[in-house]
Amino acid sequence: MKCAMFTAGVAVWLGTVVTILSRSHGDRNVYPSAGVLFVHVLEREYFKGEFPPYPKSGDASNDPITFNTNLMGYPDRPGWLRYIQRTPHSDGVLYGSPTAEHVGKPTVIEITAYNRRTFETARHNLVINIMATEEFPLPYQAEFYIKNMNVEEMLASEVLGDFLGAVKNVWQPERLNAINITSALDRGGRVPLPINNLKEGVYVMVGADVPFSSCLREVESPHNQLRCSQEMEPVISCDKKFRAQFHIDWCKISLVDINKVVPVYITRPDPGTGILPEFGEYNPPSESLKSRDYFSDFLITLAVPSAVALVLFFILGYTMCCRREGVEKRNMQTPDFAIYVVNDSFLITIHMFICVLTSIHPMGCSKK
Ligand SMILES: *[C@@H]1O[C@H](CO)[C@@H](O)[C@H](O)[C@H]1NC(C)=O
Repeated sequence: MKCAMFTAGVAVWLGTVVTILSRSHGDRNVYPSAGVLFVHVLEREYFKGEFPPYPKSGDASNDPITFNTNLMGYPDRPGWLRYIQRTPHSDGVLYGSPTAEHVGKPTVIEITAYNRRTFETARHNLVINIMATEEFPLPYQAEFYIKNMNVEEMLASEVLGDFLGAVKNVWQPERLNAINITSALDRGGRVPLPINNLKEGVYVMVGADVPFSSCLREVESPHNQLRCSQEMEPVISCDKKFRAQFHIDWCKISLVDINKVVPVYITRPDPGTGILPEFGEYNPPSESLKSRDYFSDFLITLAVPSAVALVLFFILGYTMCCRREGVEKRNMQTPDFAIYVVNDSFLITIHMFICVLTSIHPMGCSKK
């Protein structure tokens, strides 16, 4: 009996150890080639299995899951690697174009998955070993602008495969690779209105080993250039090969033959020693500047208005004190206390003035 319990205990312990080991052994290796588009899908399903069983877990199949991805030991991803997850209910996608300078040291990406309902997390490492391509970078590069796709839809392997298939069909190269993919939003595109299922649009760059086919060059004809400048769709004979799935803006296609691209040498200014040349001590001008005459300014801004105000003051005072008519007569007719309130010519003037000013106001005198 004791022996059976011991065996069971050991089995449980072993099971736990194995689970822990297998969990910490979550590194995945991928081997993308430099100069070729790299796509890695972070599958919700895969990470869901990693979350420890949660008591009362309910329907775990629809938990919102988000991911955080960063270069191990750093807060963010390396510059060439981009990440998109449209909603917590869709898969996340890591994608980007490693170049020859990234070949060599493995890039370790820490992937942390968060279950937004149970607050469980799971962590994995993705080890990206970028391989050098023996073949030269594909010399003929064409970039298509696809209007009816979002970047994450285009990254799905079957969609990208369909697109490459269509390109192959109209170009007939030996080798064809997707090189880069960019959301139109990263090129100054706008977020579409949420109507008619409008998409953001995506730029896909592909490279091939043979010159561009005549069909790809059709947009360069004068006729099509004219149509493009008038914002009309150009007439491209092979557009029908794409049309069912991909709406291509042929006016935005760019065809680059990297053998013909003239390298641009940027001449940088000579940085110098960082020390200014010796000019000796600063010598302030010895004689002080001629003092400025402010008298005319004073006259115009202060004295003249003051003089005018003074004249007006005296006129008003004279009128008020010495030129009033009928003061004696009024004083005889009106009780003393009312003299100060009404019927004074000065007060009436002010009252009328205020009435004019406030006549627009609902409480104006006219309404009384
Ligand atoms: C791929 O596209 C991104 C975004 O437009 C750009 O920053 C990056 O340099 C491109 N990479 C290559 C290898 O062309």
